[in-house]
Amino acid sequence: MFRKIGWELTLSYVMVIVFSVAILGIFLLNFVEGYFTGNARQDLYRQAQLVAEGWPRNVSLREPAPNEIRFFWGMVERLSHQTGSRIRILSDRGAPVYDTGGEMEPDVPILPEVKSALSGTAMAGGSKASLAQAYPIFEKGPSGDGRAVIGVVYVSRSRIYLSQILSHVRSQFYLGFSISMLLSLLLALFFSHYITKPIVEITREADNIAQGRLDKRVRAGSRNEIGVLSSKFNMMADALQKTLNELTEEKNKLSVILKEMAGGVLVIESGGGIVMVNKIAYRILGIRQEDILGRNVNTVLPGHPLLRLLEDSDFSREAHGALEDLPDGTAVDAHVTPLFTDEGKPLGVVVILNDVTQFRRLDRMKTEFVSNVSHELKTPLASIKGLAELLLDGALKEEKASEFLESINREVDRLTRLVKDLLDLSKMESGMLRLEIHPLNICDIIQQVMMRLTPQAGRKNVEITTSFGCTFPVLADMDRIQQVIINLLDNAIRYTPPGEKIIVRTTEKEGRCLVEVSDTGPGISVENLERVFDRFFRVDRARSRGGGGFGLGLAITKQIVENHGGSIGVSSTPPRGTTFYFTLPLAGE
Ligand SMILES: Nc1ncnc2c1ncn2[C@@H]1O[C@H](COP(=O)(O)OP(=O)(O)OP(=O)(O)O)[C@@H](O)[C@H]1O
Ligand SMILES: [Mg+2]
Repeated sequence: MFRKIGWELTLSYVMVIVFSVAILGIFLLNFVEGYFTGNARQDLYRQAQLVAEGWPRNVSLREPAPNEIRFFWGMVERLSHQTGSRIRILSDRGAPVYDTGGEMEPDVPILPEVKSALSGTAMAGGSKASLAQAYPIFEKGPSGDGRAVIGVVYVSRSRIYLSQILSHVRSQFYLGFSISMLLSLLLALFFSHYITKPIVEITREADNIAQGRLDKRVRAGSRNEIGVLSSKFNMMADALQKTLNELTEEKNKLSVILKEMAGGVLVIESGGGIVMVNKIAYRILGIRQEDILGRNVNTVLPGHPLLRLLEDSDFSREAHGALEDLPDGTAVDAHVTPLFTDEGKPLGVVVILNDVTQFRRLDRMKTEFVSNVSHELKTPLASIKGLAELLLDGALKEEKASEFLESINREVDRLTRLVKDLLDLSKMESGMLRLEIHPLNICDIIQQVMMRLTPQAGRKNVEITTSFGCTFPVLADMDRIQQVIINLLDNAIRYTPPGEKIIVRTTEKEGRCLVEVSDTGPGISVENLERVFDRFFRVDRARSRGGGGFGLGLAITKQIVENHGGSIGVSSTPPRGTTFYFTLPLAGE
């Protein structure tokens, strides 16, 4: 970074200095040259004037008598010697009369300045190599100074001396120029480094930020524009970091919501590429492979019923439907909602998937339940109606009437029991049943129930024996636990062949009281074992219908035990008997 802007700055500093020093130098050299030349000219003029005015009176220049002017020549020679000028005296025709420079050259062409001096006007002249001044010598007669020009003083001086001075000045200038160049280069380098340092830093941090390292900041520099730029840059980085943090937080929140949502979410872009899928959607759609993002939904879910729904929506309409025939038998409710840009261009769809298997099962159970209840009601109601019609048709007066009425009474009792059982069940299932929990002696309760069922057992010639291993009190509702034991013993008596035994056993197991009722009846086959606790389930419907059972006893029993916090189960080895068992919490636990 410094390389570029730093060098540019350095170069511009140096250029400015070079140009200004060079221009200054040119002016200075010109001035020095002009000054020394002017000085030299003035000097020559004064010398020429001095010599011209010093020409003795009444002396002809054409043929000056040596004695008269010896003194004058001596003065001219001294002057020439002291000033380093060459002084020549020319006659009124321009012919040399005296020359301090050496031998006289007779045929010197008359120079323009000599001509001007001959006509009475002093004039400067010279060549590349020398400077010259011509000055007229006026006649000086006995009557005073006349205006007649009798000769010319021609003073010349070589320029060598001048150019020596100038070259000295020049070399001094070049030395100064070089030193100032060096110093200015160093200063320019220093200043441009100082100025570009914050810019270099900003650039570096901008690079860092671009690579995602948002915690980087520029150190606040001076108060100039670059300092302001640094602080603005830091403010921008702060704002960027804050916005990014907020965005990330929002994104995280959204992805957590989507991930943890009870429903499955699948986002598919218009081309069919999968953009997002949550855990539940993986499960509901039965997708095994992990890396499905970006892949086409048609290849990920070939032949899946969801594809039909997507086809219906055409990625631009809402579509809703149940996904039937899923391999694992799940029932799924799918809702496809299209997504659009602000300009109305379709972006893709969001598919919400709800696993409604449980819901469907409950629905089926409800329907089954209603049909079961109706079925159970139909038979007793039909027989009551039949008997009532017979009575109305005149049977009332017959002897059989009381028999009919007894039958009606029995059927009504059956119906009442059915209604009571159903009410009990629904109360227990909805948690409305309040249990009166007290510490109870389970053995006493079993004895009481056995007493109540003695006539029934006696009629069937079945013996009930007990083995009480659990003497601790249990926590239970007396009436409900009686009901449980009645139901289990009633079933056992019903299915035990005459002359055989039923055993009721209590034991303590894992801090609970385990009650087992074992009979030696026909047993229950494995496929029916799981279903005996279902409502209205009877192994042999046709046979048990006459016997009066509704198939609700074990369902109620299970509910009661579970409402006590216990568990219930059955084991059977057909045809050698069945054991129903349940547990109850012990008091003082
Ligand atoms: N000890 C048992 N031995 C063999 N099968 C049994 C025994 N107990 C119950 N079952 C079978 O389980 C079914 C359900 O019993 P459950 O007590 O729920 O109904 P139910 O006795 O037929 O009628 P309810 O008890 O409502 O009068 C019975 O119809 C019977 O087929
Ligand atoms: Mg029963």
